[in-house]
Amino acid sequence: MSARLSVVFTGITFDNPFLLSSAPPTESDSNIMRAFEAGWGGVVTKTIGLHPVVNVRGPKTKFLRAAADGPHLSMQKRPGTALHSSWNWELISDKPLDWWLPKIAGIKRAHPDRILVASIMAGSGSDRELAHWQELARGCQDAGADAFELNLSCPHMDRKDMGSNIGKDKEQISIVTQVVKEVATVPVWAKLTPSTTDIVVEARGAFLGGADAIVSSNTFPSLPLIDPETLEFEMNVDGYVSSGGLGGPAILPLSLAKMAQLTQAFPDRAFSGIGGVSTFDQALNYFLLGCGTVQVCTAAMLDHAIGPNVIRDLLAGMTAFFERHADRGWQSLEDIRGSRRDRVVTHSQIKRPDTKEYHGGHEAEGYAEQVASGG
Ligand SMILES: Cc1cc2nc3c(=O)[nH]c(=O)nc-3n(C[C@H](O)[C@H](O)[C@H](O)COP(=O)(O)O)c2cc1C
Repeated sequence: MSARLSVVFTGITFDNPFLLSSAPPTESDSNIMRAFEAGWGGVVTKTIGLHPVVNVRGPKTKFLRAAADGPHLSMQKRPGTALHSSWNWELISDKPLDWWLPKIAGIKRAHPDRILVASIMAGSGSDRELAHWQELARGCQDAGADAFELNLSCPHMDRKDMGSNIGKDKEQISIVTQVVKEVATVPVWAKLTPSTTDIVVEARGAFLGGADAIVSSNTFPSLPLIDPETLEFEMNVDGYVSSGGLGGPAILPLSLAKMAQLTQAFPDRAFSGIGGVSTFDQALNYFLLGCGTVQVCTAAMLDHAIGPNVIRDLLAGMTAFFERHADRGWQSLEDIRGSRRDRVVTHSQIKRPDTKEYHGGHEAEGYAEQVASGG
């Protein structure tokens, strides 16, 4: 383990700060073992639940690509295009808890020093549903999971008491987090939805419930584009589509904006950043805003299912970064973490080209005076 790459996050020591996020790359024990062998510091399992899961017919994920020679954006594979985003409407793991528990135990037996986080999800509409969170938590931690990630953010749930529907309600977030904390013997992370007005409100709910860290972002609610020839959505079943989730490069700036809000509001808390990362330079954004770990999904899906080249480049990029800046005395991530958090300010704090100050539009101006005087 390299001292420079290793991090401690929510009390857990990781070989490096890069994790595969909860998604297809982590849907099986064989994938997770391959991921550890490839060098990922940690893995978050595909979300495990107790309710029955039946996915839609046909593909569950597709990739939107942008052309370099014009403003063309499409899921159709064309030469010379670059990845814009992933779009998915995949539900949580369709494998039951009974399938997962021996797999978690087997993975930990094979890789006792690697960090395995169990992503879990249940409802919150009744005491029985809340007890499901505890059943999932007890099972996974007894099998050897090192931490939990509460899925409060899946964007495809019809149920009002599940996924991102819980994640939009600060009280439900608090209750669910508290219920899991009651039985958890390992750290509990809360993965929030970016699809709310002010993510700081939901994060406060999670911290009040006892969360050890916030994870952001899950995918952003979105639709596939409509093909101008067929007038069909580029992804549909019998012509129908429902809101799905956008991931990949397109969401990196969006997710960073959420993260900046979070780390500024809670500078002393732990955050794991997700969204649009495939290189160290991109991950660095999350670290400089204050994150202690970074998670990857879309880039890994497109790289042999578990991202062997992505993790190799992330580690090489991080090593090269510290070598390049050796003269500044930076030894590890802790020396730079959060160092650009306070550079995100209100608009009126940004310098103007002349001496005239801008007060965020609060000063009475011509029209404001007219309104005030009834004009
Ligand atoms: C096909 C697919 C399935 C996903 N399934 C889950 C899931 O089961 N649980 C979860 O918390 N997030 C899930 N995610 C969200 C990812 O973990 C991640 O938050 C999101 O894709 C943003 O990261 P990215 O830009 O690196 O893709 C899924 C994403 C994709 C593309």
